[in-house]
Amino acid sequence: MVSYKDLGLVNTREMFAKAIKGGYAVPAFNFNNMEQLQAIIKAAAEEKSPVILQVSKGARNYANATLLRYMAQGAVAYAKELGWEHPQIVLHLDHGDSFELCKDCIDNGFSSVMIDGSHLPYEENVALTKKVVDYAHKYDVTVEGELGVLAGVEDEVSSDHHTYTDPEEVIDFAQRTGCDSLAISIGTSHGAYKFTPEQCTRDPKTGKLVPPPLAFNVLDAVMEKLPGFPIVLHGSSSVPQEYVDIINEYGGKLPDAIGIPEEELRKAAKSAVCKINIDSDSRLAMTAAVRKIFHDKPGEFDPRKYLGPARDEMERLYKHKIEKVLGSNGKAE
Ligand code: G3H
Ligand code: 13P
Ligand code: ZN
Repeated sequence: MVSYKDLGLVNTREMFAKAIKGGYAVPAFNFNNMEQLQAIIKAAAEEKSPVILQVSKGARNYANATLLRYMAQGAVAYAKELGWEHPQIVLHLDHGDSFELCKDCIDNGFSSVMIDGSHLPYEENVALTKKVVDYAHKYDVTVEGELGVLAGVEDEVSSDHHTYTDPEEVIDFAQRTGCDSLAISIGTSHGAYKFTPEQCTRDPKTGKLVPPPLAFNVLDAVMEKLPGFPIVLHGSSSVPQEYVDIINEYGGKLPDAIGIPEEELRKAAKSAVCKINIDSDSRLAMTAAVRKIFHDKPGEFDPRKYLGPARDEMERLYKHKIEKVLGSNGKAE
């Protein structure tokens, strides 16, 4: 058993309580490789922002579970080296799909896990989430559950329709499972294609596609049922048009990629939404930087010469999110 406490990590309990009180959200950035982790830690350390390092089942398979755990431990040491005296870093399993996977993460240094039973019938979701909570809480590990189905693909869980969270279910779910936070569905979705052009309207001035608004009425109803309870938003990348344009200009093909407007996320961050998940934007930043360098310098074959600039671009992106979208800068001095 490796306890996250011995790795210098923290769980989400206090972090979320402070975020709700302070009207900001904690960034949950996914990572699969060293460059992403370096960029996340540099941004969080320089911004003094609490941060959640998110690892999906796919990331664990890609990078090796043991190596990832040591990378997270190394991240704490790196943060301190950068002058962040008391780093507030969570290592979180994203979209855990079984009790066994959650247990393995808890036993191997994770301070927080998500059990995603959102695709299961309600009673099965309750039972699975409670089983994970009962185990996790023995070790003071916090648990995120999910109610409602996001459109698109949730890791290996494919859903071609979405269902907003039913506010009538949230009290029962939170009480019976004992989960520490709840991911809800209010119109966000995973990936770079969150809406079809047909679902959008066109801004007459800029000609840009404007996605339909998030269902803030559902969020409000959830907050009314569970006052002060930590709410999580998945699928919260904004899909910056400048990255999409660079990718398309330099040989990529991302037609009509559309994300969640930053103003909507800013509004959510001020509410009980205290964790906002961002993965796709980092993938886009990295891909845009690499594609441009491959175009501009076709003779380059030292990976540091293209992954280094990609890392710098991701760091810029993470800082932007922290300062301008989540408002978590300066909250972990
Ligand atoms: O929500 C999904 C995350 O973006 C992780 O994606 O399963 O491709 O690592 P992944
Ligand atoms: P995006 O695909 O919008 O970045 O969402 C990531 C996410 O929700 C990870 O769980
Ligand atoms: Zn997600």
